[in-house]
Amino acid sequence: MTLPRIVIERCQYLARCTEEPGAITRPFASEAMRCAHERVGEWMREAGMSVRRDNVGNLRGRYEGTADATVLLGSHLDSVRDAGKYDGPLGVIIAIAAVQRLHDRGRRMPFAIEVLAFADEEGLRFGSTYLGSRAVSGSFDTRDLDRTDSGGITMREAIRAFGGDPDSIDEDRWRGGSLLGYVEAHIEQGPVLEARGLPVGVVTGIAGQDRHVLTFKGEAGHAGTVPMDRRRDALVAAAIFVETVAAYAEGHPVPGLVATVGQLTVRPGATNVIPGEVTLSLDVRHPDDAERILTSKRLLDVAADIGSHRHIAVEASHVADNAATPCSPRLTALLVRAVEDLDHPVVELASGAGHDAVAMSALTDVAMLFVRCKGGVSHNPAESVTTEDVAVAIDVVSRFLELLAEE
Ligand code: GLV
Ligand code: MN
Ligand code: MN
Repeated sequence: MTLPRIVIERCQYLARCTEEPGAITRPFASEAMRCAHERVGEWMREAGMSVRRDNVGNLRGRYEGTADATVLLGSHLDSVRDAGKYDGPLGVIIAIAAVQRLHDRGRRMPFAIEVLAFADEEGLRFGSTYLGSRAVSGSFDTRDLDRTDSGGITMREAIRAFGGDPDSIDEDRWRGGSLLGYVEAHIEQGPVLEARGLPVGVVTGIAGQDRHVLTFKGEAGHAGTVPMDRRRDALVAAAIFVETVAAYAEGHPVPGLVATVGQLTVRPGATNVIPGEVTLSLDVRHPDDAERILTSKRLLDVAADIGSHRHIAVEASHVADNAATPCSPRLTALLVRAVEDLDHPVVELASGAGHDAVAMSALTDVAMLFVRCKGGVSHNPAESVTTEDVAVAIDVVSRFLELLAEE
């Protein structure tokens, strides 16, 4: 079987590592993640790498070079709920394939290559983003260890149960000497490459992102007996807020703003009970940080206003705040040259999705390669890539490594 075909089959294989039968849901530090680690660890070893798992739960494969410096390649193995097969795993498995190719040829580069399979990019279990890459870059916030998942398990407990030491996350910080950068391949998650008829694109930067959790607290009561003018219905206030968020982003004069309420929990949650409490998520993104911060503030003010009109207490907590991240001009130029050397037209594009490269930029230069995905669809089981495009992506990463070696 060809290497690109193996990559596709491996992504399909990892789809079986899930905590929801019939769907792909692979949260941080879960049994599904343990399943993914077993397989990915084997693939790393087959490619000539030594493998270890760190405290936060990243899987790290290392292919030694002939000199001291290291280049980092990778992406994440966790997923959203009911995910596709490629968001995250594709980047990890393409990186392993590029190393496999060197190993098969008995080649060593003048630098080590470390493939990082990150533990949590999506934040499905604890809401916060980039737990794995933050640990490596030294920007992990230990206050996050007290966060709880929907079952009341703290992150500290989850890390321990997965086999890591939550009190030693600091040891996960990069300590391997000089770094040449971090490069991540990822599906595009947008329509540009497909519209242009191109297999890959080079990323210029990643939009900033805010995540908030809002709680609307009213009063539960009997749906048949409490008169309408005496109700403090938390869901009605929350629903007005959801509508306002969409209208605000749709009508915003500065292009590039997106705002989403993606998660909503209604308590107590029964047909004949007035909703007493609603918790919802708010995700705000814009390429310009000032615009994002202003929007978040306005929307939180709106939530408070809606609450006070309807006698609902509104509490907000800021769970993620990621600045817009430019990619490194030096590494990006090498990726561009790699694409050109393979005779493909170069398109440079910005990412609206977040990536581990954001957290890694606190440690080293970062660059990203996007791979065309069908219909631009992601965070959806319909995610799809072609073997031909994966072949181009492996070739570009391999060529990039050659160019880096020539530098
Ligand atoms: C990750 O996929 C994100 O952009 O939220
Ligand atoms: Mn994602
Ligand atoms: Mn991703």
